[in-house]
Amino acid sequence: MSDILSIILAAGQGTRMKSDKIKVLHSVGGKPMLHHVVDSVTDFSSKILIVVGRQNNLVADAFHDKGGIKFVVQKEQLGTGHAVQQTEDYLKDHSGVVLILYGDTPLLTEETIRDFISRHQEKKAACTVMTAYLESPTGYGRIIRKQSGDIERIVEEKDANIDEKIIKEINSGVCCFDNKRLLEALQNLDNNNAQGEYYLTDTVSFLSNKGEKVIPYLVKDSREIIGINDRINLARAEKIIRERTNQKHMKNGVTIIDPALTYIDSEVEIGQDTIIYPFTYIEGRTRIGSHCTIYPHSRIIETEIGDFVNINDHSIIMESRLGDSTNIGPFAYIRPGCKVASNAKIGDFVELKKAEIGKGTKVPHLSYVGDVSIGEGTNIGAGTIFANYDGKEKYKSTVGNNVFIGSNTTIVSPIRIGNKGKTGAGSVVTKDISENTTVVGVPARLLKKKEG
Ligand code: UD1
Ligand code: MG
Repeated sequence: MSDILSIILAAGQGTRMKSDKIKVLHSVGGKPMLHHVVDSVTDFSSKILIVVGRQNNLVADAFHDKGGIKFVVQKEQLGTGHAVQQTEDYLKDHSGVVLILYGDTPLLTEETIRDFISRHQEKKAACTVMTAYLESPTGYGRIIRKQSGDIERIVEEKDANIDEKIIKEINSGVCCFDNKRLLEALQNLDNNNAQGEYYLTDTVSFLSNKGEKVIPYLVKDSREIIGINDRINLARAEKIIRERTNQKHMKNGVTIIDPALTYIDSEVEIGQDTIIYPFTYIEGRTRIGSHCTIYPHSRIIETEIGDFVNINDHSIIMESRLGDSTNIGPFAYIRPGCKVASNAKIGDFVELKKAEIGKGTKVPHLSYVGDVSIGEGTNIGAGTIFANYDGKEKYKSTVGNNVFIGSNTTIVSPIRIGNKGKTGAGSVVTKDISENTTVVGVPARLLKKKEG
């Protein structure tokens, strides 16, 4: 497959979504539906054009990290044919296959699209239309075939007569064309129909009447061509995408105890022999290593997790990194910007924010650790608070290796605590603590300094 120009139509209003947000930017499986469509054609397209309308800058912004995409603005939405007409300048510069898809059909797989284009090329067709048989075809354009099995024309629901309405073979909206034939057909479109629109589907009858070959490609799994028009379709698509994602992970050796109750975004990576309990949300581009166990009710967002990690029940972890064999939760709250090194423990009711926790360090219970860097082998007693905010500014503290912070210590940042420093239970630390030094009391005072 070479030199394929892909055009994605995404200028429609999406009024049935009843939303302030443009339809194609609604997420399914953790990313905007339009991203799914773009990702399904990226590997084989020489160019991708997205036809956008209202709020086109918002659509373009959502693609800031994806190169090779051009946006074509359709100022007024006068129909699918009119939308493709807006790309004529690009079509004139292209020779070969043009693939047309919709931005609101995110379940179509790359595998199906590749097979579809191969058939089009093998049969040397002028146009190939992806079709499906649906038990309830209402709302879709119906396929009128010739005796030969080729397509004669497509009739839209609103233009169809009773005999045409009972046809169950529908137009998915996905089609590919030989470029020159498409250009010619586009120049001959009119809006003489029930909706007063320029229908892309009329290119089919134009070509067929000229004796050109227009063939159907019947999609194997009709769920792939579900178009999202409202929130009910959105929820259906969400379910299908999640099911696919979970199946992919299970095939790769991940145990998912109850797939129907496990919510993993499409871009998540998970290593072999990891076990995921129900009611877990794993979001964004999270990467989880192998042999981990994620117990129920956790939410993990944009996080990198090593191997042999346990995430105990009800933990929230955001935009952070957890090293191998770390033990987290239950009820841990790890906010963005944390780095927890291997073998460390972050226990129950502990909140971390922009915290670096060294190897083997333990913060086992009931603590707030914000804007802190802690060394290795340190123990932070229950109830320790790093008071990092004085009402105006945030301050950072540094804690060394093998430090022992007694229960219920308050450390008024910024503070530096040297290696093997210690605090007594209930201390309020307002001054730095040097190496091998113990402080106690409120405010904390020197208790003793160990020799050597
Ligand atoms: C279209 C097809 C119909 C097919 C159905 C499949 C036509 C005339 N009809 O109908 O045969 O069964 O899809 O879902 O093509 N769009 C634009 N600009 C416009 C109008 C639409 O970019 O002026 C985009 C929309 O954003 C959407 C796609 O084209 O992504 C389809 O438009 P929509 O209005 O949903 O078409 P349907 O009536 O569903
Ligand atoms: Mg539609």
